[in-house]
Amino acid sequence: MAVRHFLDISSLDHATLRQIIDNAHLMKAAGKHVPAKLKPAGIEDTQLAMIFEKPSTRTRVSFDVAMRQLGGQTLVLMSEDLQLGRGESISDTAKVLSRYVDAIMIRANSHDTILALAEHGSIPIINGLTDHSHPCQIMADVQAFEEHRGDIKGRTIAWVGDGNNVAVSWMHAAVRFGFNLRIGCPVQLKPTQAALDWIKAENGNVTITDDANEAVKDADCVVADTWVSMGDKDGPWRKQVLGPYAVDDKLMALADKDAVFMHCLPAYRGDEVTASVIDGPQSIVFDEAENRLHAQKAILAWCLGV
Ligand code: CP
Ligand code: NVA
Repeated sequence: MAVRHFLDISSLDHATLRQIIDNAHLMKAAGKHVPAKLKPAGIEDTQLAMIFEKPSTRTRVSFDVAMRQLGGQTLVLMSEDLQLGRGESISDTAKVLSRYVDAIMIRANSHDTILALAEHGSIPIINGLTDHSHPCQIMADVQAFEEHRGDIKGRTIAWVGDGNNVAVSWMHAAVRFGFNLRIGCPVQLKPTQAALDWIKAENGNVTITDDANEAVKDADCVVADTWVSMGDKDGPWRKQVLGPYAVDDKLMALADKDAVFMHCLPAYRGDEVTASVIDGPQSIVFDEAENRLHAQKAILAWCLGV
């Protein structure tokens, strides 16, 4: 079997992604005791290394618990404690870790780091967030949307705010799962040209507007994220240009009456979203957070051969 990496939603085909989401629903229904047919063979002898170049609460804890519930084991490695932090090459690190562990989940500053690990290592690499994308989050989010609103195919999702790493994974998902994505963002904070070019090449239903109202109108789901991502150095400027993109009750009222509100967390109430929205009846943010556990069990199982 070829090594199965989970680098981006755009790197996998629809059938594989659909199967992972369907298995995530089964994982959730089964709870802590994963059914044998969803467990990779030999999982009890399987080690997952988790490398962090940036902080994390959800990714770290949910991957750790997911691997344990599958029956495997984990090691948490902070990059500053590795020789990687002192300049050892990614290719040497990939080759060495491939001799010890069976898979790596990494949260990296640069997307190039995960690509290099995948190129030089011989074990599955899982993207736990980079400057480019956050695919595990969006798998959990698709699962959460479907629990509340049914099949995501053909539906309309509105992203409001910075066209950042999380937005890029929503763009990838729009193509692979067949939904419409409307991105409302300031012109200065549009998604990367690479992501826009990919959407064009794939003929995806993704529209970009600088008008938050237009993005949200009649949408089935409104999504926000922090205005200042990890590593962003221009916080005050971002808060200024993103001010008109705050999700409040007035903006939510423009969406479909049954629309859900999503946010990957951590959230900053009073900036990108009001407390009335994120703590209100349309919010499903804690279901998204919970689903990181279930979706990642399904992702790990797929990477390890299910
Ligand atoms: N949403 C998310 O990835 O959260 P953490 O940064 O806490 O992992
Ligand atoms: N866009 C945010 C997501 C955090 C989970 C960041 O990169 O910091």
